[in-house]
Amino acid sequence: MAKEKKAIKSKPQVLEEAAKAAPKEKVVAPPRTSSAPELLRGMRDILPAEAKYWRFLRKTAEDFAVAYGFDCIETPIMEPTNLFVRAVGKQTDIVEKEMYSFDDQGGERVTLRPEATASIVRAYLSHGMFNIPQPVKLWYEGPMFRYERPQAGRSREFHQVGFEILGEGKPAVDAELIIVGNAFLRALGVAASVQVNSIGHAGCRDPFKAALLQHYRARRSEICEDCKRRLTRNPLRVLDCKIPECQPVKNSSPQIVDHLCDDCRTHFMKVLEILDEADVPYVLTPHLVRGLDYYGRTVFEYVPAGGEEGAQSALGAGGRYDGLAEILGGRATSAAGLAFGMERIIARMREANAPVPELPAPSIFLAQLGEHARRKAFALFEKLRAAGIRSAANFSKESLKQQMEIAGKLGVRYALILGQKEVLEGTLIIRDMDSGVQEIVGYEKAIEELRRKLG
Ligand code: HAM
Repeated sequence: MAKEKKAIKSKPQVLEEAAKAAPKEKVVAPPRTSSAPELLRGMRDILPAEAKYWRFLRKTAEDFAVAYGFDCIETPIMEPTNLFVRAVGKQTDIVEKEMYSFDDQGGERVTLRPEATASIVRAYLSHGMFNIPQPVKLWYEGPMFRYERPQAGRSREFHQVGFEILGEGKPAVDAELIIVGNAFLRALGVAASVQVNSIGHAGCRDPFKAALLQHYRARRSEICEDCKRRLTRNPLRVLDCKIPECQPVKNSSPQIVDHLCDDCRTHFMKVLEILDEADVPYVLTPHLVRGLDYYGRTVFEYVPAGGEEGAQSALGAGGRYDGLAEILGGRATSAAGLAFGMERIIARMREANAPVPELPAPSIFLAQLGEHARRKAFALFEKLRAAGIRSAANFSKESLKQQMEIAGKLGVRYALILGQKEVLEGTLIIRDMDSGVQEIVGYEKAIEELRRKLG
């Protein structure tokens, strides 16, 4: 039959072709038909073609978490709006323009989390984690939501994997996070460098803000409208500006490291000493301030090697946030953390053709012929699975020829064939796919025989 002759593509082949065709970093609008439901702007489906990258990224994150002693935590995707307003800061872009907030059916104002650090601190306080031995090391992974203008590397739903260390203020913690992040990216085959700075504590920042204001006000005519607005509302944010016309003013502006108090300076020096000792290359970046208000002292960002400067390309970022627990109404708690953008890392892995493990291929294909055999095949397949023998099958195919073609494409070593005759006789056929040699074994002996053959 002509239908039978049609080349059947194996699953790996189909996935590989889809992977090649899948968009790399570009935001591509999904194909639309008049009646097809549409994806929301800035949201996307993560298709099977990308699954191996996600699997590897998650597995690597978990391996690092286990190695460095982080426990897994999951917090709700939705929280009271007020949590983020207090934690991230009223006058940040995230809170002012980017949150998905709405009133729920009970009239409570709720928000889809734009980040997870606020939730982690809330959980630390509400579960009394300050009563257990400190520091408490937690890691998490999951979706975040920000109503930003979608573009390459920036979407409205994205995923982060994060590591937080609560209850310890020593510089070794800041250094540990930077080192973990650096090794994590390397393990994923992503070339990046880490930019570091210290923004001191509030007492260092006040005189710095005054110096910054003076500098910017003197050159007001040279800066963008956004920066003018930032000057009055949240002056540190002018240092986040990426607009080319503002860069000369920014580059000549005062540096916060020159305004650090003795304690903050010593803390920062110790972080850098540990990084030097651990041979972790870093770039001192005096204008790095970060877009969330909870930070104090050390801040850092991972930027891809050869990537453009700017927040859109940062692969991950973090810093110390000693004041956050108190802002949320809890006891004073030193803490620091970092989070990576998973989509951005995967885009880099794909660009760099980073080696990513495939799922182990099946060594057996179970073929069935006839209604009775098919019913029995389900039980046999489950036996194979329970015995740890990686098997494949296609229970909906009726033609043996088609099933053998699939087995051939999968490159399995043996096919198990169960037909009407075999069911009646309590046997099955083991076919060596290379030599074509077939042997008949008793149904009950099949697993043992396969184990022996597979070694
Ligand atoms: P963040 O810099 O806002 O920090 O985000 C961390 C990372 O998430 C970014 O470096 C980027 O890779 C990714 N990311 C952020 N926004 C988007 C977006 N719209 N589309 C795609 N990726 C994005 C935080 O969220 C802090 N909570 C990090 C932290 C943890 N600080 C201490 N602990």
